[in-house]
Amino acid sequence: MNFAVLLAGGKGERLRNELEKPFVTILDRPLFSYPLELFEKETSIDYIVLVINPEKEEIYRNYINEHNLSKILTIIEGGKTRHSSSKNALSFLKDVVQDDDYIIFHDVARAFLHADDLKDFLLELKNHLALSMASPLKDTIVQIKEEAIEQYLNRDELKIIETPQAFKAKPLLEAYKKAKNSDYSDNTKVFLEAGHKIDLFFSKHPNIKITTPDDLELFKAYLGG
Ligand code: CTP
Ligand code: MG
Repeated sequence: MNFAVLLAGGKGERLRNELEKPFVTILDRPLFSYPLELFEKETSIDYIVLVINPEKEEIYRNYINEHNLSKILTIIEGGKTRHSSSKNALSFLKDVVQDDDYIIFHDVARAFLHADDLKDFLLELKNHLALSMASPLKDTIVQIKEEAIEQYLNRDELKIIETPQAFKAKPLLEAYKKAKNSDYSDNTKVFLEAGHKIDLFFSKHPNIKITTPDDLELFKAYLGG
């Protein structure tokens, strides 16, 4: 079975909006509704664990009821960091999942994720212990020193890591038990540190993370708003 963990526990400080990031309005809908509906509609997803700011729980519950979403297994309180929000979801899932299930983390901030890419990603996932969505770099990348170019990096050896990031449940739970640091910027790092391989899946459509006000305008334009 496939358990999605949708991470919406952040406030979106870099967005500098009066609303927290999951609640900014895009074409009359809150941002969080885009990934939530996407995962609800994807037939290969069995359950969704939604990680949120608990002060906003009622808004989510109302949305889920009004839109008859049927895959929400539970709503979990987010932590101070993305890493602690992930851990909170896993401490619930450890008593629910079977060893061979997959746990699929996705940042609600990546509200652009295309339905075809999610479907293809989940089809490909069956052949892997762990799989992360990724993008190639298009620009020339340099390393700098004292604000000037020091050297050119080999673009073919550099990739952008995105979400979804998916893992077989048993090794993932073991990796989190062994995790040495108090914070990790994403889920693949914990898994790599435990000695496992993470394969990459390159999406066909844009999958940007909404971080700054510019990203929000881009998302609106993309949807034709
Ligand atoms: N996230 C989370 N819990 C946190 C922090 C982040 O679940 N304590 C989630 C966010 O909701 C987001 C994803 O992790 O979907 C990626 O984080 P980011 O884009 O950095 O979002 P925010 O942390 O909300 O934004 P900012 O860093 O600008 O405050
Ligand atoms: Mg953040």
